[in-house]
Amino acid sequence: MPVVTSSLSGAVRTVLIDNPPVNATSVDVRRGLCAAFEEAAADPRTRAVVLACAGATFVAGADIREFGKPPQDPHLSEVIALVEACGKPVVAAIQGTALGGGLELALGCHYRVAGEGARMGLPESTLGVVPGAGGIPRLARLVGVPKALELATSGKPVTACAAREMGLVDAVTTDDPRAAAQRYAEDLLQRGAGPRRTRDLPLAPPPAGYFDDIRARLAVSHRGQEAPLVCVDIAEQSLLRDFDGSVAYGRERFRERVASPQAAALRHAFFAERAATRPAGLPEPDAPVRRAGVVGGGTMGTGIAMCFLNAGIPVTLVEQNEQALAACLRNIGKTYESDVAKGRLDDAARQRRLDGLRGTMAFEDLRDCDLVIEAVFEDMAVKRQVFASIEAHARPDAIIASNTSYLNLDALAEGMLHPENVVGMHFFSPAHIMKLLENVRGARSSPQALARIQALGKRLGKVAVMVGVSEGFVGNRMLSRRARECYFLLEEGALPEQVDRVLHDFGFPMGQFQLNDLAGLDVAWRARQGRLDRLSERERACGILDELVARRKRLGQKSGAGFYRYDAQRKRTVDPEVSALIEQDALRRGFLRRTIGDEEILERCLYVMINEGARILEEGVATRPEEIDAIWMNGYGFPRYRGGPMYYADRIGLPRILARIHAYAEQVGAQYWTPAPLLAELARKGAGFYSS
Ligand code: 3HC
Ligand code: NAI
Repeated sequence: MPVVTSSLSGAVRTVLIDNPPVNATSVDVRRGLCAAFEEAAADPRTRAVVLACAGATFVAGADIREFGKPPQDPHLSEVIALVEACGKPVVAAIQGTALGGGLELALGCHYRVAGEGARMGLPESTLGVVPGAGGIPRLARLVGVPKALELATSGKPVTACAAREMGLVDAVTTDDPRAAAQRYAEDLLQRGAGPRRTRDLPLAPPPAGYFDDIRARLAVSHRGQEAPLVCVDIAEQSLLRDFDGSVAYGRERFRERVASPQAAALRHAFFAERAATRPAGLPEPDAPVRRAGVVGGGTMGTGIAMCFLNAGIPVTLVEQNEQALAACLRNIGKTYESDVAKGRLDDAARQRRLDGLRGTMAFEDLRDCDLVIEAVFEDMAVKRQVFASIEAHARPDAIIASNTSYLNLDALAEGMLHPENVVGMHFFSPAHIMKLLENVRGARSSPQALARIQALGKRLGKVAVMVGVSEGFVGNRMLSRRARECYFLLEEGALPEQVDRVLHDFGFPMGQFQLNDLAGLDVAWRARQGRLDRLSERERACGILDELVARRKRLGQKSGAGFYRYDAQRKRTVDPEVSALIEQDALRRGFLRRTIGDEEILERCLYVMINEGARILEEGVATRPEEIDAIWMNGYGFPRYRGGPMYYADRIGLPRILARIHAYAEQVGAQYWTPAPLLAELARKGAGFYSS
């Protein structure tokens, strides 16, 4: 079947792209478009053209699968030049999304009509590339340099209405965009209006100092990322060159970007996230979750309830007493009010969400829920009792989920009448904001229950990765290895600010000790107390947390002091008192502190995680390295432009990592640094996690 076809209705020819799933501008589409526009130009019956797409979306971009392969003619910019040069008016009919090369194609059309649900954007920089087919010089002519760069550097799409307001589209329709574009074209013909080429519009320079200013802002907001700055270069050059020169410049910079390591990592991130969220072997879900129950309205329960409400799923929330219930409902109300105040939500949507919320202290009220998730205290006995109460009152086929961070899900399911209904849904704090969801398959969870929570995760807008039972599942298990190494580094000679700087420079939003302070040192301290019997002698003896939390009541940001000191605005400063405590603790325990290089800190933090990731794969807790990468990029701030820990490991090379693990086994101790057999085996074969 040809991917581009044409048909004539009156004097208007519709050129239709039909290239599922997202009508990407693959080589066949580019060639098809050239042929169709040549035909349209030559056909005397055709007086106007509508460029439209089959399916749910307009062109969602260049075909990412072609990136990194030898380019095939024609280039998209040549296709767009042909469309724009057409002597007959061309109207783009935009439904779904017009992204990247798709928006560039629409900008080459002379007029744009969009469905009201359509979204338009230039997400190239999120893939480490830049608009390579004239997107920036054309968009800047239509909406001005600042708005064009806002789209290109953020990668975020705008709605059809916003696009209309900024002059990016000519009309927004509630009707079928193709029918509306046909009428628009007929109207143009009636009015005798001809082509209106974006390239012919004047390009207004932005205010003086604008380019310096945006570069400085991007250096902070997009720290470490190369592509957004290249978008700025392209906009700046567009003012210095003629139109064709600026398109050629953008094309050249695209070519350079597409071959960069960051682009390769970000492409990997794109496909890894899609692969990671589709576990193999699950059936189609047989029923959606229409009402959800949440038991426990503390930090997590409040956020989880909002996740459901935001996705249009009504919630029954159970708390243990009036006071706790009132606090939870108040917190939800306040969050939505603040969303309205910030313009993120309108009042009607806020009301709709609140209308969907029912607070109660009676488990009986859970009887109409399709899924109930508990987020009560992290205590096996409490959770077991709550599970039993849920099972006693919910429907026999309701899914019963736990948000536990570390407890064994299979042990939790023991004694349940229907252990096949029991699953884990590990949300991350703040649950209504964080993208990651670890869905946990218990030994006895039914495939149908798992299929339903995967579908639910997607509906909640999460990156939902299915993992197996294991202490800390995937993310926290790896994090706890990194944390252990960070504490060891303090003993051996580093200070929190050095460790945190190294992790921050690598691209994490914050380092281990900043993270501890944010989450609350009491949380880390309590988790440590609960695991004391499983810690090594060295770990047990490490006294810094006991000193900070138990003796000095430094609980992190919330108490104004933890590993750092915080002012009223939560601005962080290094505290000499903490440095002294660390030094004293090390001295007391006979450590000879030394100067530790940044490279050692980075290696120990990352390689210990990579080694644990290999074990996680060996044990089948994760089934593919993509799952681990997706978890770390979406839940723990691993820089996307480095592709996740397992991808990063392959880039470094497993033989090198293995050699360093052996060296650290000598230096730190084999009990912490024994190579995972999978890693050793892959390294021996010269393979990687992604190449065997
Ligand atoms: N190229 C190739 N495949 C693509 C693609 C693209 N641009 N966009 C999506 N796909 C594939 C996905 O891999 C997936 O394939 P699979 O089913 O085999 O795994 C399938 O299309 C469906 O995608 P999603 O699961 O993401 O579907 P959603 O409905 O959730 O989202 C979307 C649709 C919003 C279009 C989303 O896929 C998306 O954001 N795509 C990327 C858009 C993009 O970044 N475009 C810019 C490309 S760079 C460019 O255009 C350069 C130019 O300037 C020269
Ligand atoms: P929290 O202490 O803020 O909230 C727990 C809530 O459960 C309290 O409001 C309490 O009143 C309620 N509760 C206790 N027993 C109950 C019962 N029998 N019936 C009804 N309500 C009851 O705790 P938080 O931080 O929300 O954690 C909850 C769970 O989520 C824990 O298992 C924790 O490990 C997990 N988790 C926590 C994360 C975090 O960052 N705080 C992240 C991911 C998971």
